[in-house]
Amino acid sequence: MIDIKLPNHVGIIMDGNGRWAKAHKLPRVLGHNAGMESMKKIVKATSGMGIKYLTVYAFSTENWKRSTEEVSGIFKLIVKYVNMELKELDENNVHINIMGEYDMLPKESVEAIDKMLRTLEKNDGLIFNIALNYGGRDEILKSVKTLYKECIREGKDIDLLTEEDISRYLYSGTANLDIPDPDLIIRTSGEERMSNFLTWQSAYSELIFTETLWPDFSEDEYRKLLEAFSQRKRRFGGRNEGDK
Ligand code: FPP
Repeated sequence: MIDIKLPNHVGIIMDGNGRWAKAHKLPRVLGHNAGMESMKKIVKATSGMGIKYLTVYAFSTENWKRSTEEVSGIFKLIVKYVNMELKELDENNVHINIMGEYDMLPKESVEAIDKMLRTLEKNDGLIFNIALNYGGRDEILKSVKTLYKECIREGKDIDLLTEEDISRYLYSGTANLDIPDPDLIIRTSGEERMSNFLTWQSAYSELIFTETLWPDFSEDEYRKLLEAFSQRKRRFGGRNEGDK
């Protein structure tokens, strides 16, 4: 445990695997493999620190535009991750939740994910959300469609809909895991944008961008960024957090 005010929910845009691979004269898929190793370390550290929620951006709805080789390489990594990590995730009481439509992934990846979800279903430690085939706008659109159908079916007045109604049908709502909005979102590799990650939920998140490429992101840097987060005054559009 570190003696600072930890966030309850951390989101991470794990960017820079491709550039890391290029710098090491390796194929892109090996960059993603190194990214997966980095992810393993950070999941362990997050769980060890007692942070309750972690969400990582593993594959966006836009990532389908990449080469077949790269896309299928990332999906194979999921199978590898499950085979390598499932036992330890279970021992660490980690619960995994997928945000996104993963049923269109190759059969072996879907089966590995289903096995992982089943095995970790009863765990109540870290809630580790993997955004997979995820897009923030797509998530909002799906929620709005579901709400619209609910209004028609149940004769509800559309004018009475609230922000909470939209939240209820986002992946973070339908998981029934009380997933709060992220307090902190970290993006590696020097890019400073959100790229369709947690578009609705990030409205009041603190953002930290670091130049480090994701495969080089260390537990030590993670702790430093958490410390930087703990120094920030959050205002949520009003007065400072904690002000009377
Ligand atoms: C962004 O780097 C990274 C991704 C699109 C994939 C992230 C995937 C992993 C870390 C592996 C996930 C594994 C599991 C098991 C969920 P980039 O390729 O856009 O890097 P670049 O901008 O330098 O090209």
